[in-house]
Amino acid sequence: MSFPKNFLWGGATAANQFEGGWNEGGKGESVCDHITAGTVSTPRYFTNVISSENNYPSHEAIDFYHRYKEDIALFAEMGFKVFRLSLNWTRIFPKGDEDKPNQKGLDFYRAVFEECKKYGMEPLVTISHYEIPYHLMKQYGGWLSRDCIDFYLNFCETVFKEYKDLVTYWLTFNEINCMVMGVGDILSGGIPSEDSPLQDFNSVATKEQKQNRFQATHHQFVASAKAVVLGHEINPEFKIGCMVAGGAIYPYTCNPEDVVLAQQEMRMNYFCGDVQVRGEYPYYTKRMLEEMGGISIDMEDGDVEVLKQGTVDFYSFSYYMSTCTTADEEAKKASGNVIMGVKNPYLKASDWGWQIDPKGLRYLLNELYGRYQIPMMVVENGLGAVDVVEAGNVIHDSYRIDYLREHIKQMEEAIKDGVDLMGFTPWGCIDLVSISTGEMKKRYGFIYVDKDNEGNGSLDRWRKDSFYWYKKVIASNGKDL
Ligand code: BG6
Repeated sequence: MSFPKNFLWGGATAANQFEGGWNEGGKGESVCDHITAGTVSTPRYFTNVISSENNYPSHEAIDFYHRYKEDIALFAEMGFKVFRLSLNWTRIFPKGDEDKPNQKGLDFYRAVFEECKKYGMEPLVTISHYEIPYHLMKQYGGWLSRDCIDFYLNFCETVFKEYKDLVTYWLTFNEINCMVMGVGDILSGGIPSEDSPLQDFNSVATKEQKQNRFQATHHQFVASAKAVVLGHEINPEFKIGCMVAGGAIYPYTCNPEDVVLAQQEMRMNYFCGDVQVRGEYPYYTKRMLEEMGGISIDMEDGDVEVLKQGTVDFYSFSYYMSTCTTADEEAKKASGNVIMGVKNPYLKASDWGWQIDPKGLRYLLNELYGRYQIPMMVVENGLGAVDVVEAGNVIHDSYRIDYLREHIKQMEEAIKDGVDLMGFTPWGCIDLVSISTGEMKKRYGFIYVDKDNEGNGSLDRWRKDSFYWYKKVIASNGKDL
């Protein structure tokens, strides 16, 4: 058994990182529009006032807004069966709390989806990929406020009804577990009153921050569950999934201390899926929250039932890397840290310190499928790397091909193991802005976009070697790697 006949091969993007047109067509400001560019060593900044002195990468991004026809044609040339994109919430509800949507915003996505359909490509739509309206943050405090649930549902109802004949596959929230891991402290804790750097991934959170993260995530759970129920009412054919940041965490040694620690840390990856797939908080919640300093989640009457009713149709996740963990502080120091953990001596890392581990994908797919037994989809994966453009605008990105080839092989192994895998949408199928650093230099695409970190370039699109390779992979349904 290898890739099933109807396997959904494609690619993935997100509005804040590739769409641009940030103030066109009646679009309002989103939180992302207030975040400047950084680098691997300098953080991105949130600024309350959008100043012409700063470079805000979401404003133009790669200008899909004006070039969507050209880009979708390139995806079609590679043979995409599916194209993942997110909706810029503020293109449809500029402030987020209006009753009526912005028609121009609706028209834009209709045109995009129709263009996909022209080539027989299914859109896979992330309803919210960090693009919360700035006004909802400023006025209500973002996801920490229960009000956001209704605003989100109004947005969902609008797009479900509007695109019910064009879109079948939906994801309610991108990487919902990033909120509990603190990546989204702006989203959960409200916007800072002063310009400030985005939270460092490895910094230690205060009790208040943790409290906010879990409370805000609870509101997203309720919003997601209600959206699933609503979506199925509007079109019973809809397939609505969750989306979780994946990644395997291994014990650094076979010391049982490390093994138990790894098991506990993996709960940060499993926690959200456990709620969204099984419809209830998992058995380990109480102790986990107690040990985090006594976090309590405020629930309203009916929340428990809502979570039960709104379980997802499929489980999707991103997978870029694995990490190790150890309880031994000395070993930790000696091994050297990589992003979010301890360095694995058996693995190489990307230039951004993300450890490359194809077998970890087979491992994780089996762990997840064994846990949930519902269809799986890998909706992000890939290598962020520096590309060199040679004469004639050619890009020989054999490193990217190697990365993807090895991960595809491991997905095939997982399918042979018995995992029900629906599709694969590698991240940044066209070069786009990096979320962690705001750079253009960290490229994932099969298609090169001529734009640099400072925002200079023609925005022309050039096919990389990986473009021709992926086309072959899709045409052979994963046989010709
Ligand atoms: C995922 C996000 O975490 O990783 C994407 O869903 C992001 O938005 C991707 O772009 C890769 O991360 P980065 O920092 O390399 O852009």
